[in-house]
Amino acid sequence: MPKKTIHILSIESSCDDTSAAILENKKVLSNVVSSQKIHADYGGVVPELASRAHQQNIVPVVDQALKKAGIDKKELNAIAFTQGPGLMGSLLVGTSFAKSLAIALQVPLMAINHMQAHVLAHFIEDEHQNSPPFPFLCLTISGGHTQILKVSSYDTFEILGETIDDAVGEAFDKTAKLLGLPYPGGPLIDKYAREGNPLAYNFSEPKTANPLDFSFSGLKTAILYFLQKEQKKDSAFIKNNLKDICASVQRTIVNILMDKLKKASQLSGIRHVAIAGGVSANSEIRSTLKGMESSLGWTTYIPKFEYTTDNAAMIGIVGYFKYLNQDFDLTDTAASSRLNINA
Ligand code: KG4
Ligand code: ZN
Repeated sequence: MPKKTIHILSIESSCDDTSAAILENKKVLSNVVSSQKIHADYGGVVPELASRAHQQNIVPVVDQALKKAGIDKKELNAIAFTQGPGLMGSLLVGTSFAKSLAIALQVPLMAINHMQAHVLAHFIEDEHQNSPPFPFLCLTISGGHTQILKVSSYDTFEILGETIDDAVGEAFDKTAKLLGLPYPGGPLIDKYAREGNPLAYNFSEPKTANPLDFSFSGLKTAILYFLQKEQKKDSAFIKNNLKDICASVQRTIVNILMDKLKKASQLSGIRHVAIAGGVSANSEIRSTLKGMESSLGWTTYIPKFEYTTDNAAMIGIVGYFKYLNQDFDLTDTAASSRLNINA
């Protein structure tokens, strides 16, 4: 019997990207992302501005996703939306829109966990990425999270380690702010680091009680004190050494991440290793992980670039798995700003 073709519209609005995608089973027909530029000058996302921008963007973004996919609203089998975690005001825009459309079209609604979606983006069918077999390890690194997960099925996630303070994306963004770079600073540090000397400066790596946990707040303070000290000697220190500073900070962060991942693989005996989340767009993290295939006998899974930072296609793939299980949600399902990976 030929497999039924399912079309899902998915909506992501948890932080500062308004995104809508159309999936045909596990394939992405369209994945439209409108990133809000308004936060650049504030050094971080301003929640009130984010929800207002989502309100302005959501209708045109959904419209564009349908047009690009060549799908009419009436052909949709279900609607998936990000339930959380994220900024409440931002989540509410996507949640209300998805509910209203599901009611109007009389199709099922599916509330999706954003963190599960980052991980399951690996299962989007795309010639530029491979799906890992279960169980695999996933280093999930974003602006709000830093976790090492053991993923045993589409809905079984065990947290082996996580940050006890800042997320790694925050470490990138806060460092960028100290360097006078606009938000989000992660991609800029990545860019400048490519031309800098990673051994120019040394920052110590933090210790944690659980060897698989992370801590990034100490690194931020160490960078702050370092910059203050150097600027006393040379007021143009940052400007004159920006590339070397970025390369040295990035090397330290990559070393911390890879060191924990190695330990997790040793302790669990799992050698299928994936990365996910916005920070997995980082070029050094991607190349370093790839290099570990030959040195450690790992098989690594690096998401296609467009599925790393927040996007609705990743929400759609989780929606597809929920749809197969007929796991639908009621239209009174509430958005939740603090949703655990297993919720
Ligand atoms: O997953 P994401 O889009 O949003 C959250 O769920 O948080 O991740 C955003 C984070 C930001 O901190 C951003 O600076 C970081 O991902 N990021 C990067 C790179 N691209 C995005 N960090 C380092 N290098 C990059 N190339
Ligand atoms: Zn995210």
